[in-house]
Amino acid sequence: MEEAIRSLLQEISDFGIRSDKDLEAFRLKYTVRKGLIAALFGQLKSVAPEERPRIGQLLNTLKQSADQKVADADEALSPTSAGKAPALDLTLPGRRYFTGSEHPVQKVLGEMKQIFSAMGFSIATGPELELDRYNFDMLNFPPDHPARDMQDTFFVTRGNPSGDVLLRTHTSPVQVRVMLDNPPPIRVICPGKVYRNEAISSRSYCVFHQLEGLYIDRNVSFADLKATIYSFARQMFGKEVKLRFRPSFFPFTEPSAEVDVTCYLCGGKGCRVCKKSGWLEIMGCGMVHPNVMRNCGIDPETWSGYAFGMGVDRTVLLRYKIDDIRLLFENDLRMLRQFPA
Ligand code: DAH
Repeated sequence: MEEAIRSLLQEISDFGIRSDKDLEAFRLKYTVRKGLIAALFGQLKSVAPEERPRIGQLLNTLKQSADQKVADADEALSPTSAGKAPALDLTLPGRRYFTGSEHPVQKVLGEMKQIFSAMGFSIATGPELELDRYNFDMLNFPPDHPARDMQDTFFVTRGNPSGDVLLRTHTSPVQVRVMLDNPPPIRVICPGKVYRNEAISSRSYCVFHQLEGLYIDRNVSFADLKATIYSFARQMFGKEVKLRFRPSFFPFTEPSAEVDVTCYLCGGKGCRVCKKSGWLEIMGCGMVHPNVMRNCGIDPETWSGYAFGMGVDRTVLLRYKIDDIRLLFENDLRMLRQFPA
């Protein structure tokens, strides 16, 4: 009996299975219910009882090696491994995952925030969906001011009991929110998106970015404003830059000014971008109007302050030589991938 088992073990190990037909022949001969192995199990009861455990174990080994051989052959002959192709094709090109990167607008905004943070400004934000009251009334816009025109402003709901709701047309309402919520001294910048009903072109879009600044303390003067803007401009646009403050008008500042920097593309000589003037306008600014302070519960006899608001997108366009503002908002990957992290 032992002899028979051992020779069958050898036979099984030598049996070559190269096809489904070989496999079938193997199974029929050894592992099916009427095969040779089952027959040997049948003979087990005729073995002497003291020998039975040892022979039984030997038989189990035989059965296991036959079953293993069937399983291995099954696997090797299955369609996925047909033709002996390796299961993993190492020659396939890898799949490339693109990591995101910072949007050019956020890069420039980040730089601006860093410059002002170093000067002691903290960052405040407000909602893009804003109350008319904060966007206009509290900022001292008279009821008939042209900026309130439907032509310029996206109104969302009108005739609301708590007031008209609109998409903010500038970041200045964040000034109001900050002043209402915080006692002076106040020193904040407010970056964010603003919306205007503009004719869309390569130079203007219905949404763009502003960065607002507000400083309220005792004895703040226009000279402080100039020094701050000058320091900012030198860090942002280069040491050589010169500034020009032009008198202007905003309802929420008095006096008001617009600020130009020498064109940093031509160094002030005059080029296509600065329209031969040598200057680029970067912001509006001024001393916070006493009415605005009073509207926000701050006594203009005790406190004074300056504010400024600058456009961000034009700086982005000039910095990265992008010639159409719409590209900043369309999120076309062909464009965004040109600004890796
Ligand atoms: N809000 C103005 C605009 O959108 C910009 C501005 C001008 C902001 C003067 C200010 C300021 O804070 O003092 O055109």
